[in-house]
Amino acid sequence: MKIGICCDHAGVEYKTKLISYLLGKGYEVINFGTDSSDSMDYPDVAHPLAEAVENGEVDLGIAFCGTGNGMAMCLNHHPGIRAGLAWNTEVGKLVKEHNNANVLVMPARFISYNMVTSIVRAWLNTEFAGGRHQRRIDKIPVK
Ligand code: RB5
Repeated sequence: MKIGICCDHAGVEYKTKLISYLLGKGYEVINFGTDSSDSMDYPDVAHPLAEAVENGEVDLGIAFCGTGNGMAMCLNHHPGIRAGLAWNTEVGKLVKEHNNANVLVMPARFISYNMVTSIVRAWLNTEFAGGRHQRRIDKIPVK
């Protein structure tokens, strides 16, 4: 499986560690930056990640910013993206099981790195439940 990953300056440390973690688990990873702790604008990396998920260049995406909100707002402007914000393991599981999030967003300034790997494992290892959740997802796009 190929995973695209991005962050702003607030998420560089966790993103860098997570890339090594995912590679060690056998995932392919495409890094969309940033790789510097210099202040930058999260849309500059969120849009390329979203496009890569939408066009199939990667299967899933992971994004970090300070609160996770900027990334989530930006990613969710793309019609093919369901970006879900997760801050603990249970939410990481539910954001796949109920929302079928194809991009996982985490708030780097508010969770530990141990929590990051726990959330990522939960999200990657959970299947979408379908059924009533699919019906709800189908109602998300603005008509
Ligand atoms: C950067 O200071 C911060 O605003 C950003 O990482 C993020 O939290 C935005 O939503």
